[in-house]
Amino acid sequence: MRILVTGGAGFIGSNFVHFLRRERPDCDIVVLDKLTYAGNPANLEGVEDEIEFIKGDVAEFEDVEAVVAGCDSIVNFAAETHVDRSIVDADAFIRTDIYGAYVLLETARALGVECFIQISTDEVYGEVAEGFSVETDPLMPRNPYAASKAGADRLAYSYWATHGVPVIISRGSNNYGPRQYPEKLIPLFVTNAIDGLECPIYGEGKAVRDWIHVDDHCRGILTMLEQGEPGEVYNCGGGNLRDTNQMAEGILGAAEAPLDLLKHVPDRVGHDMRYALDSSKLERLGWKPEVDFAEGLRRTVQWYKDNEDWWRPIKSGEFKQWWKHYYLDQGRG
Ligand code: NAD
Ligand code: TYD
Repeated sequence: MRILVTGGAGFIGSNFVHFLRRERPDCDIVVLDKLTYAGNPANLEGVEDEIEFIKGDVAEFEDVEAVVAGCDSIVNFAAETHVDRSIVDADAFIRTDIYGAYVLLETARALGVECFIQISTDEVYGEVAEGFSVETDPLMPRNPYAASKAGADRLAYSYWATHGVPVIISRGSNNYGPRQYPEKLIPLFVTNAIDGLECPIYGEGKAVRDWIHVDDHCRGILTMLEQGEPGEVYNCGGGNLRDTNQMAEGILGAAEAPLDLLKHVPDRVGHDMRYALDSSKLERLGWKPEVDFAEGLRRTVQWYKDNEDWWRPIKSGEFKQWWKHYYLDQGRG
């Protein structure tokens, strides 16, 4: 089995590569990654000699055709992923998340693959005021990131329904774990807390997310790859519903930082106030989340404490411009 992992130098993609090396050492892995600000070759340290890494763009046919040839399966993680950045400028989201998915699907159709996993997200359902989203619920994305992912999600489905490409769609909830770019809630708050900097909570801190450890998400994706039905969608949620205030207290507690670092700042526009997934369809394939949330969060915080040489270059580099533009200049910091 030869698997193409797009976006494999990012947070979940790199965790999936490490996970596959551990769990399926016989698989050949090819990573295609453009190395945007969020892609980091250091994320593949330890496996770099065991995989093939190709720097390239999923939205370029030439780059994609060269790598898809010879691959049995594709897992498409490559995407622009930060909601706040999509609010500032959605251009790269449309290009990578939608057009990039199209290029991969069209190439898979032309060359033939056994399985194409499109990594979608629970954000495609939009805000869920109560209850839990099931796979047949309508998609109501409310921010440009979520909308671009919903476009790719349905485009992928159309390649199954129209062209018979064996597509499976995974809708995961908010992931946490090592190697997440420090623009996202958990790594931002841990690394700020380590430096004694304020941690900005949007609005009243009441937005609820369904947190899943990245290892559980990776196992869910492998379950879909090995046992999923083509043309099907599978939710993959951790079942750990927490609002931002609860998360912030948990993160700062694990980091042994004072709670007075927490600061309420103006809310994200179009902020989805609740996501929650019903993952029973994937559970019927034998998967279930295994990482205990408190323990997973403690280990994650410890990882950032132990790996300052991973995040300090990021926070003193590209991230600084983002912090200035989105937080300081717009009154959030
Ligand atoms: P990330 O931002 O950490 O990584 C994205 C990776 O994609 C980076 O390595 C980047 O260099 C690469 N990339 C971006 N544009 C590219 C292009 N045009 N061509 C090739 N590579 C490109 O993202 P992540 O958090 O690891 O998310 C991975 C996937 O999982 C995304 O599709 C995202 O929508 C989905 N997802 C994420 C979460 C979450 O909580 N992080 C939850 C559910 C689903
Ligand atoms: P984030 O990690 O950006 O993921 P997503 O928006 O894709 O769910 O944000 C998680 C939650 O944390 C979300 O409700 C927004 C909130 N948040 C803050 O309150 N402050 C911050 O600085 C960030 C980055 C997020």
